[in-house]
Order: sequence, then C-alpha cells, then structure tokens
Amino acid sequence: MKSREIRQSFLDYFAQRDHRVFPSAPLVPHGDATLLFTNAGMVPFKNVFLGAEAAEAPRAASSQKCLRVSGKHNDLENVGPSRRHHTFFEMLGNFSFGDYFKEEAIAFAWELVTGVWQLPKEHLFATVFETDDEAHDLWGRISDLPPERILRCGAKDNFWSMGEVGPCGPCSEIFVDTDPDKPLVDWQEGDASGRYLEIWNLVFMESERREDGSLTPLPNPSIDTGAGLERLASVLQRVGSNYETDLFRPVLEAAATLAGTSYGARFEGAGSAPDTSLRVIADHLRAVTFLLADGVIPGNEGRGYVLRRILRRALRHGLRLGLEEPFLHRLVPVVEETLGGAYDELAATQEATVATVRAEEEKFLGTVASGARQLQEEIEAAREQGLAQLSGAQVFQLYDTHGMPLEVIEEIAEEERFTVDRQGFEEELEQQRKRSRAATGEGQRRLQQLQQVLTGSQEGGGEEVTATAFDGYGCTELDQAKVLRLARLTADQAVAATALSGKEGDATEGAVVLDRTVFYAEGGGQVGDVGELRWDGGRARVTDTRKNNSGVIFHLVTVLEGQLQAGQQVSLHVDSPRRHSVERNHTATHLLHAALREVLGTSVRQAGSLVAPDRLRFDFTYPRPVSDEERRRIEDLVNHWVLEAQPTRIEEQSYQEAVAAGAMALFGEKYGDVVRTVAVPGEGLRSLELCGGCHVANTGAIGPFLITAEQGIASGVRRIEAVTGAGALERVREQGAVLASVEEALGAPAAEIPARVETLRAQLKERDAELAKMRLQLVSGAGAGGGGAEEVAGVAVNLQEVPFAPVPELRNMADSLRSKQGSGVVVLGAAQPGKVMLLAAVSEDLVGRVHAGKVVKAAAQVVGGGGGGRPDFAQAGGKDADKLPEALDAAREEIRQQLEVGD
Ligand code: SER
Repeated sequence: MKSREIRQSFLDYFAQRDHRVFPSAPLVPHGDATLLFTNAGMVPFKNVFLGAEAAEAPRAASSQKCLRVSGKHNDLENVGPSRRHHTFFEMLGNFSFGDYFKEEAIAFAWELVTGVWQLPKEHLFATVFETDDEAHDLWGRISDLPPERILRCGAKDNFWSMGEVGPCGPCSEIFVDTDPDKPLVDWQEGDASGRYLEIWNLVFMESERREDGSLTPLPNPSIDTGAGLERLASVLQRVGSNYETDLFRPVLEAAATLAGTSYGARFEGAGSAPDTSLRVIADHLRAVTFLLADGVIPGNEGRGYVLRRILRRALRHGLRLGLEEPFLHRLVPVVEETLGGAYDELAATQEATVATVRAEEEKFLGTVASGARQLQEEIEAAREQGLAQLSGAQVFQLYDTHGMPLEVIEEIAEEERFTVDRQGFEEELEQQRKRSRAATGEGQRRLQQLQQVLTGSQEGGGEEVTATAFDGYGCTELDQAKVLRLARLTADQAVAATALSGKEGDATEGAVVLDRTVFYAEGGGQVGDVGELRWDGGRARVTDTRKNNSGVIFHLVTVLEGQLQAGQQVSLHVDSPRRHSVERNHTATHLLHAALREVLGTSVRQAGSLVAPDRLRFDFTYPRPVSDEERRRIEDLVNHWVLEAQPTRIEEQSYQEAVAAGAMALFGEKYGDVVRTVAVPGEGLRSLELCGGCHVANTGAIGPFLITAEQGIASGVRRIEAVTGAGALERVREQGAVLASVEEALGAPAAEIPARVETLRAQLKERDAELAKMRLQLVSGAGAGGGGAEEVAGVAVNLQEVPFAPVPELRNMADSLRSKQGSGVVVLGAAQPGKVMLLAAVSEDLVGRVHAGKVVKAAAQVVGGGGGGRPDFAQAGGKDADKLPEALDAAREEIRQQLEVGD
C-alpha cells in the first residue's frame, strides 16, 4: 500500500462509521499559549475535550500535521540516529467526544488493522494501563488475543498527557512484531530493541491536568486515538524503517545524489554517518517545508527560532556530507511529491518556500564563514593572554549573535587546541531561554486570564457566553446592545464584576462582553476599534477590542461617567473617522498584495500584516530588496487601481468554492466551512482574498497610496510600509514643508537644490583643507619662532596647546613638527569643552630615552583620561579641558624624569 492509500483508507474507514473527516489544522495552534506547535492529532480538539467548546460533530477523524520539537513531546535529538523518530509526522486519528468509548474504540482499531489492512493477528500485541481491567477484558473479548499478548504497563507507557497541563487519560496501544519469524523475546527487550513496534495509541480521555498537577475529571469521557502514518507505512510496506517508506525514500535519494552518495549503502551498520545525516536532512526538510507553508517565518525567537534551528541542523549535516553550497531548497519539490497532493498548501507555497530556504541557506553558510573569522580572532586574543579556553559567554555570543552552531565552534577550537567551557555555555543558554519565556508569556497570560474571567461560569449562574454577533461591517453605530459580562482590570489581574463605576476613586478600567457589537476585534492584522459606549447617565471609552478563539468579543473600557451594570442596555459608537482610515488601509493592503505578485512574481507570499489607522505594514517572502523601479511600479499599479474607482465585493461562500475561484488563503490560518471573501475587480489586476476585515466600498475612497519604506526583516522576508488617504496627503505636505524651508535656507528653487548642495559640499571640503593648512602653518610658525621649543635635560621639547582639529590633522601636525624640529620631542594638546586630545612624537635618535606612550599617559591622567601607544608616537584622550596646561606640565616632568633616569 502506498502511504497515500493508507491515509485515505484510514479516513474512509472512519467516514463510513459516521465520523466527520476534518482537514489537518495548521502546525501553529490557534490561541493556545501552552503549546508552541501542534504535537498530536487531538490538539485542534483540545477545548472540546475540556468541555470549553461544543463539538462540531460527535465523532471525528483526521490526518493531522504534527511537530514534536519542544515541550513535553520532543524528538529532535532522536532524529538521525533513530530510524523511527521524526520532528514532523502525520498522525492519523479518530475521536469521540462523549459519544462512543473504550469498547467501540478498540473494536474499530482491531477491525481496521486486521480486517482492512490485514495484519496477521498472531503478530500483534495490545497493552493497557496497569489498573485498566475493563480495557484488558475488552481486548480479550473483541480481539480474541491470547492473555499473554495483552500486557499491562505502567504510567510511563500507558498514561498519555498532552502537555504539562491539558487533557489526559490512560491509554492502550497496539504493537506489531516486526520480526515474527524469530522466537519471541521478553516484552521489555522486544520493546526496547524496536522489534515490538507501537503502531496505534488509543487514549481514553478522562481527566484534565491542571497547573498544580491535580487531575480533574472531564465533563465527557472521550476517545483520542493516534497512529503515526510513517510507522504504519513501514509496517504495511514491509520495510525496516520509516525512512525506507515511500514518504522518505525519494527525499533521501535526492539528497544522497546531491552529496554523491547513496542512502542505505551502508545500512547494515545502522547509524553510520552518511545515513544519519541523510535522515536528519530528509526529516528536517519536511518540518521546514510545512512550517513555512503554515506561515512561520525564520527568526530569532519563538517559532521562527525553532524553524531556523531545524533548518540549520539540516545544513550542518549537509556540511558533513560535503554539501557546501545551498542545496536544501532544491529538495523542496521532492517533499511535495511524496505527499501525493494530500496537503494543498505545499504546492501553493512552494515557490516562496524555495526562496526562503535558499535565502536562509546562503545566510547560514555566510555566517559560518564570518563566525569562523570572528572565532579565530578571539582565539588569537585569548592566546596572547595565555588562555587556552573559550568562555561560556564568548561561545554563547558566537552562537547567539553570529548563529554559529556549537559543534562548528568546538571543531574549530579543537583544531586550535582550545577547549570550550560547555557548562558556562549551557548556563548562558538557559538564561536566554528564561528571558524569552518571560517575555512571550506575560502578555498572553494576562489576556487568557481576562478571557477566562469573562467567559467562564460565574457565581450565581448568569448567561452562557457564546460568540458575539458582529454587525459592524459598513456600520459604526448601534442603538442597543446588552451587557452580558463585566470584568474589572487592576494592575496585574482581571476580576469578574457586576458593575463598573466611573466615580472618582473607584477602579474604572475594565472589559465588557455584549450580546452584539459594531466594534471590530483585532484580527487578520486589522487593529481593534475604539470609541464609546453610552447609556442613560453614563459613558465609557472603548480603548481596544479583542476576541477569543470562540469569537467572544471583549471591549476594553474606561468608564468615564455613571455606572455600567451587567444586564443593562448601551448604545455603541465606534470612532468612525478612525475606522474609515483603517478600512482604506485594509483594502489598500489587498491591492498592494496583488501588485507585489504582479511586479515581483508569485514567490511573494504574505508573511504578516498590520492594518492601522495611520499606516499599513505588509510583510512578504521575497529573497532580495525591491528596486526603486519596482517600487515605483507597485505604487503606480495600486494608484491606478484606486483611480479606476472599482467597487469591492464581499461575499460569503464555502471554503472550497472560494479557493476554487482562486481566493488567496493564508495557510497558517484556521478557516471555517463558510468563509468571507473580499473581491476587488480591476482593468489590470484583480484581487480575491479570504478576509474577515473591514473594507471601503469602492477603491476610489482609498485616495493616494504612498510607499514610505521597504526593508528586509528576516532572511527572505521583506517589509513594506505605506500610507493612504489623508495620511498620504499629510505626508506629502510634510515633505513639501521641509522642502520649502530648505529652499528658503539655500535661497534656491527646489529643482536647483541638488546642484546647490553639491557646490556647497565641494566648497566646504576646500575650506576644510585650507583651514588645516593654516592651522599647521600657525602651529609650526610658533614652534619655529622659538616660542614653543624649550630645553629639558638637554633635549629640545616642543610643548604646545594647539587649536582643536580632527585627529588625523592633529597627528599630521605632530608629525610635521617633529620632522621640522629634528632631534627632540613634540607634545601637542588640543581642547574643546569636555574633550582633550594629547599627542606625543619622539625623534628617531631619542627613541630608547623618551617613550612617547608613557609621556601621553602621564599627561592624560591629569585631564581624567588614559591612553598610550608606541615609543615614538602616541595619542591619548581626556575630559577636563581646563587642566590642559597642567597636563602639558606633567608631560614635561615625565620627559625630564625619563631622560634623567636614563642618564
Ligand atoms: N494523543 C495520543 C498520542 O499522541 C493519541 O492520539 O499518542
């Protein structure tokens, strides 16, 4: 069976048994602060298990994209040596939400495995949680397995938890003997060696694990099963490892060909270097491809950092295979082929993925080269100080700022006979982890707490809070809405309240849930609305609007007058000029997106956006800077489209219809069955996007569109900022005003300004040169006049205070005075408020008797500074300008001492 057939037969089997088949949710879980990535098939259903969300169907099945690289489930380190582990994998699963339980779950699994896939019953085992007699009996009855093939195991193997917190329960697993012709071995031995291979896990979800470690029963006992597709494929395709299935073989072979080797050539010596590296490359490439398709951008923190690390780990293994040029991006299409069209997002994002991977590769390879140079310098410097170890902080800096992989650092250090303070490095790393955990966690935690307070069950009952009706498209006022819930916000927490009062001395900051609203909640890049709630005898300012995953909208308010109470009616007034500016910027963002794809090609993919009242920001994948010419064309295309005054068309339709019509969806987003599409027709370009945001009715309302900045924000990702409408007008006026003042200052019309500035620059340069020459003449004139030269211990010493000038000029002065004077010492001091420069030059015949470095050092101490240098020429700095004469005296004394001691 091809893996495509296995996946399909699983989904078909459960569809025929009344399960609703759900498409895979994105790898980035939505609104779950406890989880970085989707790590199991049940993650999209977590809230349903917990009873916080209603199930869309009582039974579900899916093939879910999973990534296990962080937190409780982390297989990163195993990838390579192991022939069974992955970071990215597909999990087949069937789920029951308070519908069927253990008996049917076991019966379904058994029928599918032995009936449909026809694995011989005599090769199978089942395990159950040690105290789960019920499951034990059910296996005996349903499967007819002999008792010695139904094993009881402890919590380590047979109690499954999603993470430190979340749903969990005892589980039951199906194992297959991968070497059935050999005599049976002890269970522990067979399990540890991988001969007895787990292929399916049936979790009987019964509890929720809380932060304090306690277990609370779930409202409905449920079923969550998971079967790794790659393992199943290895069993059904009768190959020795997941990597030999049709899901991996083509990728491994393509990588091996690039490296001039072949996979499995030395398979008998499992774990041999080339195979290990090829497995890492194949596994990590799949993870990278799916992460990029789901909108994760390589970066220095959070998910982007994980993505970058996985990608770099693959590149390091490439280096081990001698792949020193970018190669990974060339394998991206191969990954897509192995998935047989099961994930549309791969084809749709391929071009962008290739570009981003390539950019990351180039950057990494460049980093290794530049990091190696930096490391070399540090080693030389440390060696001069008699050291033979690199400190934890040094290594961490190379690792963190320069992106040097630790193993590369260690390799270079070893060649130089240096050691690396690994423990110190680990400590630095841990510190950084702590810092980033603290930074990302706080905001999320506060919002989650607020959401919990406003949607959780309240004392004394109260209405259940469900998705808030949003009536605010094309409308910013609403006469009546009912206050459902209130919370008071203090500096560090939110507490449920029945009233918020605007009286002085009382806390007036809070959050409100209404039964309906016209306030748009932040989402899809568009900022939340602000405005006012009014009622008889009172009003509250709405300072922001947010929503949770289930569509409940929260109005963050400051009560200004009167008292706001649960149950009362209020009227709603969105700040409409602000909203209209936001609408202009939102529609303009869609036009910009289309124009970018027209001018730069379809490798452009949205990577983030911000739609605010005063500007818009659009991040997109593109491997190089946008040229001035391209930028102008993009701006022109958008402005012409605006001038066409095209009506926007907003519709609701099924996701499938919308995508079939060519709508641009963001793959990292979670869409419902019915989606909202925003279409903008045009004479040249056309735009069709899935979008829940607010838009102008006609492009003409956007007004002028101006790009204000274009820059790179990560490798392969660019950012454009732009303004529209009054914002654009404002900007043009500001620039006009600046220009007018420049015209006035220069006394020339705008058109002549560049030439005028050029002339002024040239004149200035000429004057500077003249000035330097005159200063030098002045200084040497004084010296020649005898005023500056004196005799100290029989040697001519020229101590002079000279006008402050740039350092090269001062050096030049000291130098030319020294040549002019012949045998002797020159000491110059120049001061301006807060800054002193001291220079000393010694003629060749006196080197050995007078040390210039020591002279300036002694003088610099007087003016609160330091410095030094060579015996024949040195410079130093200081701060106390007033003390310059004393500093020169100190120099004289120092010279005298040096000469006398020498004598
Ligand atoms: N959640 C369980 C697992 O990941 C079964 O789907 O193994």
